[in-house]
Amino acid sequence: MQKLALITGAKGGIGSAITKQLVKDGIKIIATYSKGQRETAQAWFDEAGFTSTQVILFEMDITDSQHCREQLFAITEQYGVIDILINNAGITRDCAFKKMSAEQWHQVINTNLNSLFNVTQPLFAAMCEKGGGRIINISSVNGLKGQFGQTNYSAAKAGMIGFSKALALEGARSGVTVNVVAPGYTATPMVQAIRQEVLDNIVESIPLKRLATPEEIATAVSYLAGEGGAYITGETLSLNGGLYMH
Ligand code: CAA
Repeated sequence: MQKLALITGAKGGIGSAITKQLVKDGIKIIATYSKGQRETAQAWFDEAGFTSTQVILFEMDITDSQHCREQLFAITEQYGVIDILINNAGITRDCAFKKMSAEQWHQVINTNLNSLFNVTQPLFAAMCEKGGGRIINISSVNGLKGQFGQTNYSAAKAGMIGFSKALALEGARSGVTVNVVAPGYTATPMVQAIRQEVLDNIVESIPLKRLATPEEIATAVSYLAGEGGAYITGETLSLNGGLYMH
């Protein structure tokens, strides 16, 4: 029976690579995009050459719990229980803490952390009832080591790890695994937006002396989502080129 995966922020740098990899793995994908992004999502879909039997686009504002509940109910009614959930969508609002606005703080916490409650809770009970599921949360090296200018982002990404360990304990008896993939600096528009001089210094500090590719991150997600990942739960898999070893 074909597996069904839901990926938030599917058209982003890492999300897109994950979607393509899981399609290759033979998994059907519900790809969510944020409010007002229908046209760019459709353009991404067309450019990737997906078919509607492979990928289904769905609008979902992951910061709105009631809206998520309604959308996820509609998705489950139409396509069945989600087997694999990938909480991938995330944003940055980098700023030194002294200057950070409440808006910059709350936007990042709402999008990167509160979304885990909004998206996961409506799907988790159904996975448990079905007797299995995989939840993979995309965190960051900066949730593990901290980063200048990212108190909001590091707090959210570290929070994802605590959430995943706690939910792994709750899901285990029903065969639902919960894991984290923690990418390092990856060649995506988010990282390419860092000021060049700052980015050069970061790359210089990475023992492997390069950014990760989105495809490398997607391979790890594919592993955790596949048969080989069945006995792994509550784990954080780092792909950071040696930038942080824990
Ligand atoms: N480490 C130490 N000191 C730093 C610093 C750093 N990384 N960055 C700036 N400072 C210093 C400045 O030199 C300045 O010192 P002085 O007052 O003595 O001159 C002081 O801190 C204050 O600097 P500013 O607030 O003026 O800093 P800024 O506005 O120039 O830059 C920043 C702040 C935008 C956060 C910048 O540091 C930056 O872009 N940092 C990188 C943040 C980062 O890595 N983001 C990752 C985005 S991608 C991502 O998040 C994906 C992922 O998961 C990895």
